[in-house]
Amino acid sequence: MERIKVGIIGMGYIGVSHLEAIRRIGFTELVAVADANTALARKKAAEFFIPKCYDTVEALLADPEIQAVHNCTPNNLHFEINQKIIKAGKHILSEKPLAKNSDESGRMVELLAQHPKTVAAVNFNYRMNPLVQEMRNKVASGEIGKVTLAHGSYLQDWLLYETDYNWRIEPDISGPSRCIADIGSHWMDAVQHVVGARIVEVCADLVTVLPVRKKPTTQVETFALNKNVEYEDRKITTEDYGAVLFKMDNGVHGVFHVSEVSAGRGCFFNFEIDGTKASMYWNQETADQMWMGHRDKDNLQIMRNPNNLSAGAKEYSYLAKGHPEGWNDAFRNNIYSFYKYIADGKRPGVDKSDFATFAEAHHIIKLTEAILKSSASRQWIAVP
Ligand SMILES: NC(=O)c1ccc[n+]([C@@H]2O[C@H](COP(=O)([O-])OP(=O)(O)OC[C@H]3O[C@@H](n4cnc5c(N)ncnc54)[C@H](O)[C@@H]3O)[C@@H](O)[C@H]2O)c1
Repeated sequence: MERIKVGIIGMGYIGVSHLEAIRRIGFTELVAVADANTALARKKAAEFFIPKCYDTVEALLADPEIQAVHNCTPNNLHFEINQKIIKAGKHILSEKPLAKNSDESGRMVELLAQHPKTVAAVNFNYRMNPLVQEMRNKVASGEIGKVTLAHGSYLQDWLLYETDYNWRIEPDISGPSRCIADIGSHWMDAVQHVVGARIVEVCADLVTVLPVRKKPTTQVETFALNKNVEYEDRKITTEDYGAVLFKMDNGVHGVFHVSEVSAGRGCFFNFEIDGTKASMYWNQETADQMWMGHRDKDNLQIMRNPNNLSAGAKEYSYLAKGHPEGWNDAFRNNIYSFYKYIADGKRPGVDKSDFATFAEAHHIIKLTEAILKSSASRQWIAVP
């Protein structure tokens, strides 16, 4: 078997995580990178011994050796660059959110339909934690009974101060939603994946906690501490916080809230699924453990142990119990599931995937729009 040759576009914060994940998979080979910041791309290529570094997206896509491309650019470039990747005949792994709006994401789904051999994934990596896979399997097997409720949150603090600034603040780059599109999208994807149903109706309250922020007059790296920087005032239109009531197409009701201004929270991504026999809870910050709640017997605090996982979850767990697996491992699992699908010769639209498809990511963009509309109109909104 030949190794699958890969290129990455965008070598910023998340591009490096993609690089490391690709390198952890034996049958993939990272052969090229590109970034609009050519100095950054060259630096990363030299540092990580990547053979080729291109100055443009077009040059990377023209390389016949490259079979799959990761798009790790900011949200406003997903539509344009993803289309170029698909038209160039490469398999594609796009960062989330898939697009700035559902017109763009819908057009990408249509374009893919014209390229039936192209494998296309969106990087909703949290669903690929082994214990999240285990929760999915416990729902599917009926172990927790009929699912009734789903609830949780995703909290961060990286935009707590008025001097915190990033391209995600700017709707032209990020899209009209920030907190929901950036982290709420992960929450909705993971919970839909576990419950095995889609959210179809929402009622939301979105809040811009800091209506004015201080924008650095020079570029500041994502999540970096800002020091010795000059600022200008910017009016903020996107949400710092969102609370969403929802209904799913299998009758499950739920609620989640997301925040980027909750001091002390880093990646506090958690959810509970309640069934008629038992409940399950998982938190990304303690990713190697999950809780099971019972009424008539003791609750269980479960430490991940590959020997005790169901077959589907075991595929994504390789360290023995007590050797914590976490964020990087789930990230690697998502990239692995994409390449395993390609290597196994599976057919998009026919064979099911563990990774999120463009169609699933398109639904999440539609949900994001419905959440914006609901908050503005103070009404429940159904998602087509
Ligand atoms: N799945 C996850 O957990 C996760 C985590 C963080 C970010 N993301 C997503 O990844 C994407 C990138 O986020 P980030 O935090 O890495 O941003 P970033 O700003 O750190 O990096 C983006 C990079 O893209 C480059 N770029 C910009 N325009 C380009 C162009 N035309 N051609 C080539 N390169 C270009 C920039 O120079 C930069 O290096 C976003 O869509 C974000 O939502 C996903």
